[in-house]
Amino acid sequence: MNRMKDKVCVVTGGAQGIGRGIVETFVAEGAARVYALDMNATDFPELERTCPAARGVVVNVTDAAAIEAFVEKAKAEFGRIDVLVNNAGITRDALIHKMSEADWDAVIAVNLKGPFLMTKYIAPLMMENGSGSIVSISSVVGLDGNIGQSNYAATKGGVVAMTKGWAKEFARKGAKVRANAVSPGYTRTPMIESVPEKVLEPIIARTPLGRLAEIRDIANAVLFLSSDEAEFITGQVLRVDGGLVL
Ligand SMILES: NC(=O)c1ccc[n+]([C@@H]2O[C@H](COP(=O)([O-])OP(=O)(O)OC[C@H]3O[C@@H](n4cnc5c(N)ncnc54)[C@H](O)[C@@H]3O)[C@@H](O)[C@H]2O)c1
Repeated sequence: MNRMKDKVCVVTGGAQGIGRGIVETFVAEGAARVYALDMNATDFPELERTCPAARGVVVNVTDAAAIEAFVEKAKAEFGRIDVLVNNAGITRDALIHKMSEADWDAVIAVNLKGPFLMTKYIAPLMMENGSGSIVSISSVVGLDGNIGQSNYAATKGGVVAMTKGWAKEFARKGAKVRANAVSPGYTRTPMIESVPEKVLEPIIARTPLGRLAEIRDIANAVLFLSSDEAEFITGQVLRVDGGLVL
């Protein structure tokens, strides 16, 4: 119950879905503060009521100035950020010949530039403080590809590649700043609400453990990698997909 005791955490896309589950888990595990960064503030009052250590902050992860301003605010409040979870993500699916440049650019901006910017502004603070954990959410699609998801797959594969580079870059100069990724299988959140059951059924049939992921499955994996229990783990991709991608 105390695996995040006293930690200052940042979770992007923390208003709903997997991000919300991560925020709730960190708070339940004793975090001092969990900043839930999201573009959509509708759920913030309820989040802050049910999770007293959580704070909703409106930040678009593609907006460098907003991220910089947020980091200054967190620095003023706590002087440090211990954990960053790059979770915010979107899909704009289409077969490649039908995919517009706008849909390509939108997904690259949120899913790839977002983690780049968040990490660019937060990792130096972690380096200064000598420790930290960055967990970025990839996807089975980033490891295995998927029809109609060229843009999304490129970003999720990119997150894995960036994570491995960060693991090397941030472990220099005596700093113990770790970077890992979690690769969820299809998870019941608003993101897949529009996916028809007839598409999900064959995925469940191909999954050795025979079901979709639940938000808690992903949040528990992120908790482990964010906590000091994982202090000797960096540059890894933890697959949480019931064995879908082996
Ligand atoms: N649901 C799945 O099946 C699944 C599977 C694998 C990976 N993932 C990944 O997990 C992460 C979370 O997915 P989810 O299913 O919870 O999605 P979701 O759509 O339910 O929630 C995403 C959250 O991110 C926020 N967001 C979107 N764009 C943003 C931006 N530019 N700046 C700040 N916040 C922004 C949204 O407002 C929303 O609150 C994503 O990176 C997604 O790609 C999801």
